[in-house]
Amino acid sequence: MRPALALLQSHCLLYVFSGMCVPIVVGSLPPALPWYVPCPVRCVCQIKPWFSLDSVYHEAPTVDCNNLLLTKLPLPIPLNTHTLRLQSNLLSALDTAVLHGLPNLTDLDLSQNRFSHVRMITQSSSLPSLLSIHLEENHLSHLPEASFSSLSALQELFLSHNNLHLVAPGAFKGLDSLRRLHINNNRLTTIDPRWFRALPQLEVLMLGGNPVEALPERGFVALTSLRSLVLGGMGLRALAEKALEGLEELESLSFYDNHLTKVPRQALKRVPGLKFLDLNKNRIKLIETGDFKDMVNLKELGLNNMEELVSIDKASMENLPELTKLEITNNPRLSYIHPHAFVRLSRLESLMLNSNSLSALHQDIMLSLPSLQEVSLHSNPLRCDCLFHWAKTQAARVVRFIQPEATLCSAPPELRARRVREVSSGEMSASCLPTIPASSLPSYVGVQEGGKLVLHCRALAEPYPELYWVTPSGLRLGPSVFKHYQLLPEGTLEISRITPREAGLYTCVAENALGADTRSVTVGVHNRGKNRKRGVVTKPKKFQAVRVDARLELNKVGEHYAILSWQSRQNLPSTRLSWQAVHSNSHTPTYTTRVLAGTQSFNLTHLQAETFYRVCLYLGVSEDGKHANQGMGESKKPQCVSFRTKDVPEPQPGLQLNPELTSIVVTLLLLAYILLLAAMFKLQTKFLNKYTPDLSWVYSASRLMTSRAHLQRPLHPARKSWWRQ
Ligand SMILES: *[C@@H]1O[C@H](CO)[C@@H](O)[C@H](O)[C@H]1NC(C)=O
Ligand SMILES: *[C@@H]1O[C@H](CO)[C@@H](O)[C@H](O)[C@H]1NC(C)=O
Repeated sequence: MRPALALLQSHCLLYVFSGMCVPIVVGSLPPALPWYVPCPVRCVCQIKPWFSLDSVYHEAPTVDCNNLLLTKLPLPIPLNTHTLRLQSNLLSALDTAVLHGLPNLTDLDLSQNRFSHVRMITQSSSLPSLLSIHLEENHLSHLPEASFSSLSALQELFLSHNNLHLVAPGAFKGLDSLRRLHINNNRLTTIDPRWFRALPQLEVLMLGGNPVEALPERGFVALTSLRSLVLGGMGLRALAEKALEGLEELESLSFYDNHLTKVPRQALKRVPGLKFLDLNKNRIKLIETGDFKDMVNLKELGLNNMEELVSIDKASMENLPELTKLEITNNPRLSYIHPHAFVRLSRLESLMLNSNSLSALHQDIMLSLPSLQEVSLHSNPLRCDCLFHWAKTQAARVVRFIQPEATLCSAPPELRARRVREVSSGEMSASCLPTIPASSLPSYVGVQEGGKLVLHCRALAEPYPELYWVTPSGLRLGPSVFKHYQLLPEGTLEISRITPREAGLYTCVAENALGADTRSVTVGVHNRGKNRKRGVVTKPKKFQAVRVDARLELNKVGEHYAILSWQSRQNLPSTRLSWQAVHSNSHTPTYTTRVLAGTQSFNLTHLQAETFYRVCLYLGVSEDGKHANQGMGESKKPQCVSFRTKDVPEPQPGLQLNPELTSIVVTLLLLAYILLLAAMFKLQTKFLNKYTPDLSWVYSASRLMTSRAHLQRPLHPARKSWWRQ
């Protein structure tokens, strides 16, 4: 073995997913040497480098007859041929007697030919020195019993991209030394556990690209030496608990491009030696608490390219002491990673999170990863406010940003397009409003009657937000089980055995001390059976037809507040409340507030005492402004009530007034008395007008004093207007 090739073996594992231990040191490969033998016409005969399965280097006498439109074996083939390449020809049968005469034939490449029966190759004489045979891209449709029994030394068998749909239970009988089997991209619909009984030495198995929807329980139990299993592109929807049982040596496993909707955590428990796991391109929606727990050998995990992944939940990765690389990239809907998603990942060095919908990475995540060296966050709609404060801390300085020039803020507006690393901590706020990312909830979800509705709502904020859901009937669901509703701690709403009556608008509300965010989703329930066609959808009653109605009532009124309530049997997420102080002679501003979904009462505060108010409730169904403008789902006439705030209580009789204040009150009373007298004597209007400014001075001065002494104002605007008449 040459020193230049020492690297080769160490990189082998990284390449197991591709199924090939390709020499990555191609640049330094020794060159082909001339081989002076009588060579078949148009073929090339050379001494070429060749590597065994254990990456041992050989100088192999090689006959290369690729791409020659051959229909027969070319002759003469030199006696000591080690490697015979017949790729891309038109061969459909083989004179095996010729091959039998080649005692050192080790590697035979028959890929991209026209073989339709495997017996055409393996019948009659045996090839005891053949270690590797390539039969990819032929027309093989079935493998009978003991198809390869004449190839007793075979270590590698490549059968991918044929039309195999029938493989006899004992098809591989006699292949006691086989270490690598590629049978991917055929038409197998089931996996027969009996195939593997003949393969005790098998280390690499590529089964992907076959339309297999389910793996049998204990299907691989005979493969006690298997190190790498590739099950990509198969249409697997779920994994039986014991599907991977017996794979004691398994180190790498790929489920790339399947239809898994959950992490197959029970099945994964049976392969404790696993080091590399690829779950890329599946239909997993959530990485849930406990999905990856105590996988003590896991080194690298891939969760990329998942169209439906929305959330990485609390403690979804826990106690993975060997995990060094975690890739969660290119998931267009992934907008949420719980601040405590990663627990005891003491060796994690590389965290790849680029090209998701993440608005932030909570600082608790950074604090939970003591060995982190690099993080990739570019191509995310990053919110460079409170949640990015960690990027400015000392601890973050040792973490390298991958592509810092592409790691840009997209919010808040004043920081847009700035590089995250270049925003100073002074520019970031310390707290932030909740936001429910648009990508986490679709606007419409259809579900079968009697089925289970699952809606995921997640929100990031500082302080941590509280989440609740509002049902179409206006019911507010908190974190507890209610009838057949369940709100999971992360914000997922589950409704089992849903009925058509439960179709309608569901709203998620995330609230913290600073404010709230809401997002609504329309749920349709498909009727089952009744209709011969695909089933009717009970659409939520058309918005226009909805009788949006609620009666606004005044429950309680104080000096500076009023409590209003209304009853509605509907979820009305775009409800508004507006109020205005009413004075006969002046315009006062109208205030408006949004009322959160699921709220049916409101405490109006900061009101003026002894003042008339008019309060109106505008009920609305649709959440976005567009629909409201079209008048859809918004009640035409608002519900209004008027009331007057209470008087500030009169000073109690016997209240101890200090002498100074008493004298002022006396003066004022005296003044009022004089004015009364003046009015009674019908003094000239001119005189009155002259005195008004003086009176207003009295009013403001006394207000100044009363506000200090908590006394009633001696003269009130309402009384003043009476006096003016
Ligand atoms: C086959 O290989 C062996 C060992 O490399 C060699 O000694 C022998 O001569 C070869 N046989 C032929 C027919 O070339
Ligand atoms: C309404 O708000 C006022 C003023 O903040 C407060 O004193 C009162 O207790 C509140 N009432 C209720 C029921 O919350």
